[in-house]
Amino acid sequence: MSTPIVIDCDPGHDDAIAILLALASPEVELRGIVTVAGNQTVDKTTRNALKVLELVGRTDIPVVRGAEAPLKRRLRTAPNVHGESGLDGPDLPEPTTPLSNDDPADWLGPGVVLVPTGPLTNVARLVETGADIERIVWMGGAIAEGNVTPAAEFNAFVDPEAAAIVFASGIPITMVGLDVTHKALFTRAHADRLRDTGRAGRVVAELSDFFQGFHERRYGFDGSPIHDAMAVAHVIDPTLLETVHCNVEIETASQFCDGRTVVDRWLTVDGPRNAHVGVDVDAARFLDLLVDRISTLP
Ligand code: RIB
Ligand code: CA
Repeated sequence: MSTPIVIDCDPGHDDAIAILLALASPEVELRGIVTVAGNQTVDKTTRNALKVLELVGRTDIPVVRGAEAPLKRRLRTAPNVHGESGLDGPDLPEPTTPLSNDDPADWLGPGVVLVPTGPLTNVARLVETGADIERIVWMGGAIAEGNVTPAAEFNAFVDPEAAAIVFASGIPITMVGLDVTHKALFTRAHADRLRDTGRAGRVVAELSDFFQGFHERRYGFDGSPIHDAMAVAHVIDPTLLETVHCNVEIETASQFCDGRTVVDRWLTVDGPRNAHVGVDVDAARFLDLLVDRISTLP
């Protein structure tokens, strides 16, 4: 029995790989993709989502173009990480698939897991319009890391007001943050295992080759954290992640800490335990799952 999921994303190298992991895994059934401005403009993230689906012949998956700007703030993109296209590296043809006119709220409901892998702008709007969101598994935030400022992770930082709405909604949330994604680095050896397995495997290897450049320059890593794929992997196999059920608040009014996910990791406050936060991961099993599943794609 597979779990229906909806991915809300800003492709983005790791978003693209997360989509491919979902399509390669029988444990989940991808019902639709909503795009959001984040790593690049929403026009580019939407184009990239269509490119990924066309790569593996899955244009049956509906794609809806989502928010082009955060709820209140000016959009901050990440060309330094993902390039001007948002998916620099592989040469993917311009997509021709039309967008869907569906309302993503219609894709949700009992048993459906919403997997946001970008800023939470669309998700906040779904919450505010009363959409039936049973569960959220979000790649974003961090207990102790920051990658766009010293205090904040990118997805939370781009739209902290949206994140605050979602974390105050009472909807069960699992937060897959930098603390766990940085523990599982996809290396050139992983990429080489995929390079000759098919078109998708070659593209993932080329995405990784480009993504690796940023992580070498910034962190000196010998691999890249495929952040968003870990959120999908958590739905596929919940035993990969260790989580702590605790209070998470979002900073929205600070000179230095805007967008910080303030995680009460050690249960020091009385606030509502509104999230299950990733604190450890079986990195080897996650990376093997990722490579094994992508290698099955055409
Ligand atoms: O901080 C990493 C997250 O921000 C990932 O989802 C990446 O794709 C960007 O959206
Ligand atoms: Ca993303």
